[in-house]
Amino acid sequence: MNLASDPTIQRKITRMAERVRWKQPALTSRGIDQTRLVLEPDGDQPGQEDPFHFLVLGDSGTGRHRFHSPPRRIAERLLPHKPDAAFLLHTGDVVYLVGAADQYRDNFLRPYREWLQDGEQWSSLSHEGMVFNQPFLPVPGNHDYYDLSFPVALVAGLTLPLRRHLQWFHDVDAGWRGSGQGEVYAQAFMDVLHQLPPSRLEQHLETHYDAVWDGHRCLHYRPGRLTRLPNRYYRFRHAGVDVFAIDSNTLISPVAPSQDRRSLQQELQACEHQQNHVYQSLASGGVDEESRDALLDELETLQESILDLRRRIGQGATVDEAQLKWLKDGLIASHRDPTVRGRILTMHHPPYVTEATKWTQADTMAIRLRLRQVLDGVAASLGDTMAAAAPVDLVLSGHAHCLEVLRTHDTGHADSGIHWVICGGSGYGLRSQRREGARLMEMNDDGSEKHVASSDLYIGKDWPPAEGRHAYSGLRVDIAAGRPLTIRLTPLVSCRADRGWSDQVLETITLSGPSHRRQ
Ligand SMILES: [Fe+2]
Repeated sequence: MNLASDPTIQRKITRMAERVRWKQPALTSRGIDQTRLVLEPDGDQPGQEDPFHFLVLGDSGTGRHRFHSPPRRIAERLLPHKPDAAFLLHTGDVVYLVGAADQYRDNFLRPYREWLQDGEQWSSLSHEGMVFNQPFLPVPGNHDYYDLSFPVALVAGLTLPLRRHLQWFHDVDAGWRGSGQGEVYAQAFMDVLHQLPPSRLEQHLETHYDAVWDGHRCLHYRPGRLTRLPNRYYRFRHAGVDVFAIDSNTLISPVAPSQDRRSLQQELQACEHQQNHVYQSLASGGVDEESRDALLDELETLQESILDLRRRIGQGATVDEAQLKWLKDGLIASHRDPTVRGRILTMHHPPYVTEATKWTQADTMAIRLRLRQVLDGVAASLGDTMAAAAPVDLVLSGHAHCLEVLRTHDTGHADSGIHWVICGGSGYGLRSQRREGARLMEMNDDGSEKHVASSDLYIGKDWPPAEGRHAYSGLRVDIAAGRPLTIRLTPLVSCRADRGWSDQVLETITLSGPSHRRQ
């Protein structure tokens, strides 16, 4: 019995499209592009080459640890950097464990109250009524699409008063309904046009889709008034930098079976057996908080592996070609626009990662190969126009519960020489780096190995510089004035100490420029 169920990729695409009335005549007839967003700045419009900074969080949505809450501590670390930040990117898994509405209050509203309009009244706010006072821009994570599997939902529903009393499900971050296949995330962050009656739709579109970007009408993000996203994937521009926010959940359909079905089935059975063992340990009682946390984190890892294996065993998953084409076309147009000085990509699943559980997962390979196809396509279209520039300057992701800075070497593709930063250690159970270490290898066609990427920094579970304590993290990213794009990272790290927190001061990291690109 798996705790969560994951809708199919086609279901995710279809349901999200319904929620935003994707490309319906009311929108197309007005020339509205539902993938563009214009941010209205608090002060003056920034110049195309002005410096700015933004903040990053990921994998934070837990309400466990009512005392010394990791998401809250990391939010507090970000607060001194908030007043003049241009925006905040959340790399997904906004609310664990199954993106449920009744978990938003403790797992999101409470830790991030300073980003919310009337946030001091967080306990009486609803996820549906959230208005931010500064751009708070997420992408959906896998947990934001999950539902409680039927038997668990039944047990959870039938025993609700008892559970409230026992706090058991509170501790596993599971409401009793789940995300409604991403419905709750959509209600919280997206402009859910399907909830508007036709009589109000017209006025809403005239009032809020009044921005114009490159001749396209699009949604206007106005802090304090309306802070919605037009779609599950979208793009915006700030000070000459284009940011592409991707829904990677629909891009992870398995690329090719790397093992036979029988061995995958055996692996699945072993994971399910281990999962039952964890359930029994949790149910047996008498487990202290630290051991229970470890069991819950193991449960989440197992659940992820089970869903990954089920995707690999099941065949014929949809490929979200429309989103891949949108990204490719958008990057090409961005490179051809002389006013744009750089490009950042943000999404949930990391294409390169050295966290213990992720590199061998089918999801990781799928997102890496799909992104490669897009970037190869961009490079082929642009030819000499792109010269030694990278198709993207920085890729931000989450999903791995750590802070990690990687760079690719010569991969044989257009994703060579790119910086990859994972910010997924902002609240949920942290993970260690894999035993094999910082070098990521891929197999060549002739069976030899190729060194494709290196990890330069890894902060997570049992972090050696803090004597093996667990190090949670957020990130400040600075973009310097002018060109070429200079990016500086400031990790904001706090370790759990016996009776509270110990904040860590880390040096700022300047990412090297495009001279390291494969020519
Ligand atoms: Fe995730």
